[in-house]
Amino acid sequence: MINLYPLVKPWLMQMDAEDAHRLTLRVLKSGFAPTCDYADDALRSEVFGHVFANPFGLAAGFDKDAEAITPLMAMGFGFVEAGTVTPLAQEGNPAPRIFRDIKNKSVINRMGFPGAGLDAFAAQVSHFRTRSAGQPPRGILGVNIGVNKETVSAFEDYSRCLTVLAPMADYIVVNVSSPNTPGLRDLQSENTLDALLAGLMAVLHALDIPPVARPSLLLKIAPDLTPDQRAAVAQLALRHSIGGLVISNTTTARPEALAEHLKSEAGGLSGQLLKENACAVLRDFYRLTGGALPLIGVGGIASADDAWARIRAGASLVQVYTGLVYEGPALVPQILKGLSAHVRAAGMKNISEAIGADVPLGADIDRAEKRGAAA
Ligand code: FNR
Repeated sequence: MINLYPLVKPWLMQMDAEDAHRLTLRVLKSGFAPTCDYADDALRSEVFGHVFANPFGLAAGFDKDAEAITPLMAMGFGFVEAGTVTPLAQEGNPAPRIFRDIKNKSVINRMGFPGAGLDAFAAQVSHFRTRSAGQPPRGILGVNIGVNKETVSAFEDYSRCLTVLAPMADYIVVNVSSPNTPGLRDLQSENTLDALLAGLMAVLHALDIPPVARPSLLLKIAPDLTPDQRAAVAQLALRHSIGGLVISNTTTARPEALAEHLKSEAGGLSGQLLKENACAVLRDFYRLTGGALPLIGVGGIASADDAWARIRAGASLVQVYTGLVYEGPALVPQILKGLSAHVRAAGMKNISEAIGADVPLGADIDRAEKRGAAA
């Protein structure tokens, strides 16, 4: 693959960020998508019942309307998470609503779930499934579901999206963590989340889908939860036997290093300035769940070293969005090759052996037991 991105990047960076994104999607759909068919059995693993050719995926928000799944998969991603989709089409917040901090390789966005709505999204996913029927499996498809700004019942909105998309998706992510839909993050509070997960798991299990084909239900959380909230979410995730957690969405924090003129922009921060926090929260969830739940690590990943560190911190899979904006599509083969090298250098046969390697669960349990015995 010839890497043209360094040539076009200065031009794209001068454009409005959303225009640049729209143009990128148009180029991808037009068949000029860069492709990568790097494959290594050491990167292949089974997570929530699906075989992933590699653990590196595209995060939600890049392909909101599921219109570029095929070219995105062809870029070499092991999985693509389309969405967030809402039941009804909506405009989202007024533009401009994406802001780059180029120096810090970070982005603030307050998109507010613009999109063509569930019917159009489902038609795209169905088209993708029909076209790929009978072809060798390329990548795993996740869909990320949300609620309309004017919703009267968040549960009804998620439930509608879940019902329509469950027969077509490999996994479904309930997004309760985007900071740009009023009230959405409040759904992470313990009692509300308990009822939401119970209700959605019941809807999923009542659908006429054989258990082997039933998609896993995951929850995407914010990196801004307090330690108590994290403990409660972890317990609920385990109690309701959901498929896993996506950690994390963008942050509402405004680190000191962020460009001064962006500090007062509302929205969620992603990219390099989110990296440390997203990794710490992931590590905490791995510990809180005792490694019993698949975790998807996302936030500030922009190199093979970042991806490897996130897997060692407890992620079974990792995703990228902002890193792709700054590094371009060559990031995909670069990360895949780097991960292969890390697996071999660590003397492992498969990447799954590295999951949580830096989080001493056993030692924690030993210490807790000793504390218990001493009390
Ligand atoms: C996002 N993200 C996002 N997440 C989500 O669950 N639903 C969405 O619709 C969106 N939309 C969205 C738009 C834009 C412009 C950005 C930059 C991000 C969040 C994204 O999936 C991811 O969780 C964070 O961006 C952190 O990862 P990166 O970007 O640091 O790799």
